Amino acid sequence: MAVTRTFSIIKPDATRRNLTGAVTKMLEEAGLRVVASKRIHMTRDQAEGFYAVHKERPFYNDLCDFMTSGPVVVQVLEGEDAVARNRQVMGATNPAQADEGTIRKTYAESIEANSVHGSDSDENAKIEIDFFFSPDEIVG
Ligand code: PPS
Repeated sequence: MAVTRTFSIIKPDATRRNLTGAVTKMLEEAGLRVVASKRIHMTRDQAEGFYAVHKERPFYNDLCDFMTSGPVVVQVLEGEDAVARNRQVMGATNPAQADEGTIRKTYAESIEANSVHGSDSDENAKIEIDFFFSPDEIVG
């Protein structure tokens, strides 16, 4: 299996509860390596741009409000089949449907405050990584 990269966000509900280390530990234990990481307070423009694909959805405004409500940690993760591996350890979007042992089952508060984001394809991973990181910030 090829070593690839994915993009991750530790969301405001998790940073607020001081879970950055705990979430990162679960990512690392799943075989992912953090090759870039920064803690930022997303601007409204960044949130709206990042989630532009969802702009017709009823939850778009609330999602942008939530993602700008506190610090987030944006990360580039590397590992074998990184997109799928990350989505597996994240668990389902709605924590009520997430499998035991996943990050969202363990830590998420709701479908909105669901602790982590992860890219859904290699193509989107590249777009999302480029949205937040310059190449020199990624050290593999
Ligand atoms: S879908 O239907 O598959 O496109 O939706 P999904 O990719 O699972 O969700 C996209 C992001 O929107 C968030 N989301 C919500 N936020 C607030 N309220 C509701 N009802 C809601 N449903 C989905 C969800 O957490 C996803 O955020 P990211 O950051 O992409 O994980």
